[in-house]
Amino acid sequence: MSRVDRVCLIGGSGFVGRHVAERLAARGVRVIIPTRNRERAKADLIVLPSVELVNADVNDPAQLSDLVAGCDAVVNLVGILHEGRSGDFRRAHVLLTEHCIAACVRHGVRRYLHMSALGAGPSAPSEYQRTKGEAEQRVMAAHAAGLATTIFRPSVIFGDGDSFLTLFARLLALAPFVPLGSPDARFQPVWVEDVAHAFVAALDLPQTIGQVCDLVGPEVFTLRELVRLVGRVTGHERPVFGLPDGLSRLQARVFGALPVKLITYDNYLSMTVDNVSSMPYPALFDRAPSALEPIARQYLGNATPRGRYQAFRHRAGR
Ligand SMILES: NC(=O)c1ccc[n+]([C@@H]2O[C@H](COP(=O)([O-])OP(=O)(O)OC[C@H]3O[C@@H](n4cnc5c(N)ncnc54)[C@H](OP(=O)(O)O)[C@@H]3O)[C@@H](O)[C@H]2O)c1
Repeated sequence: MSRVDRVCLIGGSGFVGRHVAERLAARGVRVIIPTRNRERAKADLIVLPSVELVNADVNDPAQLSDLVAGCDAVVNLVGILHEGRSGDFRRAHVLLTEHCIAACVRHGVRRYLHMSALGAGPSAPSEYQRTKGEAEQRVMAAHAAGLATTIFRPSVIFGDGDSFLTLFARLLALAPFVPLGSPDARFQPVWVEDVAHAFVAALDLPQTIGQVCDLVGPEVFTLRELVRLVGRVTGHERPVFGLPDGLSRLQARVFGALPVKLITYDNYLSMTVDNVSSMPYPALFDRAPSALEPIARQYLGNATPRGRYQAFRHRAGR
C-alpha cells in the first residue's frame, strides 16, 4: 500500500476524531481537520504537531473538494445522534458521504475510511441507523467502482470525552434515583482508543480494503448495568428503576421535545434492537480490546470530587 502522509479527517474535531488525530499526528502524518467552529474545537487539537484545523463547511462540495485535494486518504467520522430539523440525518450521513466519495474520485485519493455504527441497515428501526446504512451502501458501491474503502461499525464508544457514560455520571451526581428508559437494551461498549487504533492501523493494512469491521469491546452490558457501573465507579450509587416499554417511549418523546436532548424517540427506537456483534474485535488489528470498568474508573472518577476520592481509594487498594 502506498504511504499515507496527508489525511483529511472529516469530523476530526469530535470525541473520536481527537483520538484518531492524536494517533495520526504521533506517526508524523499531516492531518487536515475541517470544522464549522474552529474556536470551539481549538483547545486540544491545536497543540498537536502536524494537525491543521480549518474553518470550513464540508457540506459544501466545493469546499470539501479543496480540502481533499492532495490528500492520500480521507477519513469520514461525521455523524449526529439527534436531528435539529427534519432531513439532518440524511444530510450528515448520506449526502456528506456521497460528497466525500465524489471528492476522492475527483482528486484521485485512493483510500477512504468510513465511520458507520453497529446496527446500521436499511431495515433498522431508527432513522439514525437507516441513514447510516444508506451511507454504507454508497461506500460499498464506491468500493465496487475502485475506491479502496473500509467501513467501521462500533457499538457505543466510551473513553475520556465521551457523552454517553459521562452524561450518566453527571445525572447520578445530581439525582437521588434514576427512572431509566430502555433498561434492558444491550450494548457491547468499545474503548475510543481501540476504535482510533483500528482506523489508523487500517491505513497500513491492505486486507481491510473492502471490509466492514464491527468494533466492539469484550463485554456485553444492559443499559441498567452500565448505569449501575457508572454509579459504582463515581461513588454515586443510586437506585435505578427500569421503566416498562410504554413509559420508556413516553420518556423519550418528552425528553426529545426539550431543547437540550438527553434522549430522543429515534434513540429509543435504536435501543429496541441489541447493539451487539456476532464477531469479536477484528484480529487483524492485532490488539485485544479493553474492558470497560478499569478505564471508566479512571476518566469518570475525575468527573466529580466524590468520584476522585473513590478512584483514589481504588488505586490505593482500600
Ligand atoms: N460516540 C459513540 O458512542 C459512537 C458509536 C457508534 C458510532 N459513532 C459514530 O462515530 C462518529 C463520531 O462520533 P463522535 O462521538 O466523535 O461525534 P461528535 O463528538 O459529536 O463529533 C462529530 C463530528 O462531526 C462533525 N459534524 C457533526 N455534524 C456535522 C454536520 N452536520 N456537518 C459537518 N460536520 C458535522 C463535528 O464537527 P464540527 O467541529 O464542525 O462541529 C464533529 O467533528 C459519528 O459518525 C458517530 O455516528 C459514535
